[in-house]
Amino acid sequence: MKLSIIYFSKTGKTHTMAEEIAKGMKTIENIEVGIFDIENIDYEYIKESKAVVFGTPTYYANTCWQIKKWFDESWGCNLSGKIGGVFATANFAQGGADTAILTIINHLMVKGMLVYSGGSAIGEPYIHLGPVALKENFEESKELFYVFGKRIAEKCIEIFS
Ligand SMILES: Cc1cc2nc3c(=O)[nH]c(=O)nc-3n(C[C@H](O)[C@H](O)[C@H](O)COP(=O)(O)O)c2cc1C
Repeated sequence: MKLSIIYFSKTGKTHTMAEEIAKGMKTIENIEVGIFDIENIDYEYIKESKAVVFGTPTYYANTCWQIKKWFDESWGCNLSGKIGGVFATANFAQGGADTAILTIINHLMVKGMLVYSGGSAIGEPYIHLGPVALKENFEESKELFYVFGKRIAEKCIEIFS
């Protein structure tokens, strides 16, 4: 089963966390993962993917314009019925990463995706809207992204197998 991660990253942090998510996804049997920079997307792979996870740096307490632009122009990319998830990186705890995530979730809803974060009810590590990595605890956050990837993959197997 194919899963995809689409992200924008200027200084590498969001890219690093995309790789952690992919590592977690690949721990589940029969899962293949495509990681795509927003400028280099394999649309055939996306079409075949059961989940598409989006990653953004937080810019001015919102998603970056590169991701917003992609959604504004991607009407031809049908994501309906796929699992959708979102993650973000930011400098500061009060820097607006949750708003960045929610902005993308709006787009996922309009695309007809089945939005999934795992949810805090699963237990520790708690994930609410999606995993966030801050400047102050970047390395320690990797585990959270790894677990997020694993949970998304497990849900896809449960729903689509
Ligand atoms: C134009 C711009 C605006 C930013 N705005 C915020 C912000 O509002 N809140 C915050 O916590 N970090 C902000 N940052 C920091 C980035 O979100 C943070 O460094 C992020 O991890 C960078 O991701 P990247 O390495 O994948 O490019 C901003 C950075 C830039 C370049």
